Amino acid sequence: MSPRKVAVIGAGPAGYVCAIRLAQLGQGVTVIEKDALGGTCLNVGCIPSKAMIAAGSLLHKIGGASAMGITAENVSLDVNQLVEWKAGIVGKLTGGIGVLLKNHKVPVLYGVATIVDKNTVKVTGKDGAQTLKVDDIVIATGSIPIEIPGFDFDEDAVWSSTGALAPKEIPGHLVVIGGGYIGLELGIMYRKLGSKVTVLEATPGALPGQDRECVKVIERSLKKMKIKLMTETFAQGYERQGDGYAVRVKTKQGEEVVACDQILSTVGRRPFSAGLGLENAGLKADERGFLATDKQMRTAVPNIYAVGDIAGQPMLAHKGSKEGLVAAAVIAGQPEEYDVRCVPAVIFTAPEMASVGLTEEQCKAEGREYKTGSFPFAASGRAMSLMETEGFVKIIADAQTDELLGVHMVGPEVTELIAEAALAIEMGATAEDLSRTIHAHPTLPEAVMEAAESVHGMAIHIFQKPK
Ligand code: NAI
Repeated sequence: MSPRKVAVIGAGPAGYVCAIRLAQLGQGVTVIEKDALGGTCLNVGCIPSKAMIAAGSLLHKIGGASAMGITAENVSLDVNQLVEWKAGIVGKLTGGIGVLLKNHKVPVLYGVATIVDKNTVKVTGKDGAQTLKVDDIVIATGSIPIEIPGFDFDEDAVWSSTGALAPKEIPGHLVVIGGGYIGLELGIMYRKLGSKVTVLEATPGALPGQDRECVKVIERSLKKMKIKLMTETFAQGYERQGDGYAVRVKTKQGEEVVACDQILSTVGRRPFSAGLGLENAGLKADERGFLATDKQMRTAVPNIYAVGDIAGQPMLAHKGSKEGLVAAAVIAGQPEEYDVRCVPAVIFTAPEMASVGLTEEQCKAEGREYKTGSFPFAASGRAMSLMETEGFVKIIADAQTDELLGVHMVGPEVTELIAEAALAIEMGATAEDLSRTIHAHPTLPEAVMEAAESVHGMAIHIFQKPK
């Protein structure tokens, strides 16, 4: 098969990964990017947020280290230096992608791509327009934050996550609209950096859709950190009030006003395909803006592929990268499919939360018989030595076959621990497989092994009444 000519639209974790793999497989690929290499994830998402969350956690940890006999005096925060440090990390990573693409001889065209027909893409950049004739098109245009009425992102009074990652100062009182992934991660970060924080959440609890037992631990921790979580609360609008803002909210009890210095709106993201010219190729996004694909990431037009956030939930970078790899292999003629058992999810709250596979709620909805086991970090020597004993690991296994169905964790470093659980589910392992695997002592992953043992009432370091 002679090499295909491919245009990849969007250089986020789905698009740039797809382009590199296409080059590795000997295909001719051009990347088109309207903004910066690395997309939302590297520039204004996963990476900068995790850098600033790490800084907030360090500051918080220093403050709480007196129990270990450590007292640090005059600890202070230089916001400009923090933002500069974060920008340095982003610069290194995005620069690294530029070098990788160059080494793979992948040209990058900076500009806005429009699909002219199923084999033609027009790129309009600051130096004019050019047209590419290609065999295949990969759409990897990602997503953008949703705006709610009355809270347009001006990145002044109302921050999107982008504004929240480049503060000029730490706000006195931050109101966060939306208690999901981003709202809680950034809300907790600002609390640790010194803000008073109020989170307004529309549903009856934080992090809708996540394991409720895990979320309970997070909600308890919010309380301990003095972050006010107002559930079943809708933000209606805001007015300027003195040097700050008055946010009007509707709760079950009625209307009230929350005074604050800064508003951050994080109520979800929607796929981005505006102005892409989908209709010129006979393509149409669904009512939420997603492009439907088959397991080979092909859209309804067979030589046009969609990967990443635009291809559907979950809108997570690692799921997008996987889809990018699948599309690249398919374009190169390999018999590849997106055929995964699970996609892990990690939330950098305090404590952290991570999950993979089915939740108990999903098992019930599907009518699956299951059994559970869990192990608290309070019984882990390693967790004690880290002074982070909040949380637990929960394992859900099929009641008959013992096959792992889901693993949910809240506690120290669980965003790392989840990798083992994802591998186990992907390999079709049972709870017994996990419990028979020797885990190094003293480490946090022992909690995963003990949770698996507890599925059968056999955990060693917690007492379980014989069944
Ligand atoms: P989200 O869907 O996680 O949470 C949005 C929250 O806002 C929900 O709890 C929802 O009930 C609430 N909400 C919606 N409308 C509201 C209103 N009018 N008033 C009050 N609350 C309202 O969306 P989020 O946090 O914006 O994140 C977007 C996506 O980005 C996530 O779905 C996730 O896929 C991705 N992400 C992943 C991260 C990770 O992997 N660690 C971190 C951050 C984001």
